[in-house]
Amino acid sequence: MWGGRFAQGPAAVMREINASLPFDKRLWRQDIAGSIAHARMLGAQGILSAADAEVIIGGLEAVAAEYEAGDLPEDLDLEDIHMATETRLAEKIGPVAGRLHTARSRNDQVATDFRLWVRDAMDEVLGALRTLQRALVARAGEHTDAVMPGFTHLQSAQPVTLGHHLMAYYEMVERDCSRFADARARMNRSPLGSAALAGTGFPIDRHMTAQALGFDGPTDNSLDSVSDRDFALDYLMAAGQCALHLSRLAEEFVIWASQPFGFISLPDAYSTGSSIMPQKRNPDAAELVRGHAGRIIGCMTSLCITMKGLPLAYSKDMQDDKPPVFEAHDLLGLAITAMTGMVETTTFRTDRMRALAQSGFATATDLADWLVREGNVPFREAHHITGRTVKAAEEAGVGLAELPLETLRAIDERIDERVYAVLTVDASVASRRSHGGTAPEQVRARIAQAQAALDGDVAP
Ligand code: ARG
Repeated sequence: MWGGRFAQGPAAVMREINASLPFDKRLWRQDIAGSIAHARMLGAQGILSAADAEVIIGGLEAVAAEYEAGDLPEDLDLEDIHMATETRLAEKIGPVAGRLHTARSRNDQVATDFRLWVRDAMDEVLGALRTLQRALVARAGEHTDAVMPGFTHLQSAQPVTLGHHLMAYYEMVERDCSRFADARARMNRSPLGSAALAGTGFPIDRHMTAQALGFDGPTDNSLDSVSDRDFALDYLMAAGQCALHLSRLAEEFVIWASQPFGFISLPDAYSTGSSIMPQKRNPDAAELVRGHAGRIIGCMTSLCITMKGLPLAYSKDMQDDKPPVFEAHDLLGLAITAMTGMVETTTFRTDRMRALAQSGFATATDLADWLVREGNVPFREAHHITGRTVKAAEEAGVGLAELPLETLRAIDERIDERVYAVLTVDASVASRRSHGGTAPEQVRARIAQAQAALDGDVAP
């Protein structure tokens, strides 16, 4: 491509370090689409003759058909997908192919291709996340009255419902969707026509190519356009945070599937056995969702570090932007799909959850709140009285609701038999009706909203 200036070919290692074709051939659809839009605009502007533009567009379509059939270029000497496609185009249509690169550079070309690819990736992730939300909402709806221990510090804290717990992940995924949607809206401008870095002297129409490629308009600074990879970073940051959420849910599943917890049994389809211990059912899929989060966050870090020291405008370091985005996208797709499958098919052992919710003095706060409400006791004093009550129950080896009234009254005589109404786990969860609280009626209301939003796919 630059034989005019160079007397010698590249060193073998140069050829290898320089080539991005092994990974950027994944951009072929976007590369062809960008070139067709560019050629059509060159024709419309009279920069190319209408006849040449038609020949070039027909040739690009023929190359696309070859790629579609699986005949993707492999030769490292072609360097990248842009040069590979132009080379193949020349083989098909002859020297007129050399006119396609008028008024553009690979710098704006790759920036355009990659934006188009990341935009599609965002749409794909958004679709998958909506499916995960549907699964969470469906399972939450089955379990709005299923009491389980709520934890802080992984210590039994207060009873909650399984529906409430699952809906917490719906909210996290909702924020993930909003991050991807924000990023998509922000990035949807076309860098095509920024050329190498300074724009071009040809009378191009950047609005036309932007529109043809589904962008909201052209970017406004050519230097920024060829060196901006914020869209890829936005994708990776949203992906990293999403992976982090999936990892937390996966971690819960790992804990819940363990024998001491026994809150879920994972279906065979998402478990593996042990080659030596026949009793084992290992939650491998959940562990790998957790593991993949590390790699996805690693991809995000990788591109941040690639970009952080680069002066304007394009530097070849930026060729390394694609592998981490591709890797993160593949891993995130697997993680979302696996997590969705686990949410859909896991058996929740609600008897076991209820039994544990009843065992950890989880209604102690309800006793303290009752003393405040019914006995006009200051909360700090109520906390103290409740502490002594928990100690008495622990010593007697019973739950709070099983302590006889005499024992309770010996601790504080302001307690009377009405207190038993708040000491059960069902009464406890039913009482927490504050907005966003665990009461079944609150959770059902949020589920209804979420369902409506998912049905209409409108923002909740
Ligand atoms: N393969 C290159 C990349 O991915 C395309 C841009 C090359 N630009 C250049 N000035 N050498 O970044």
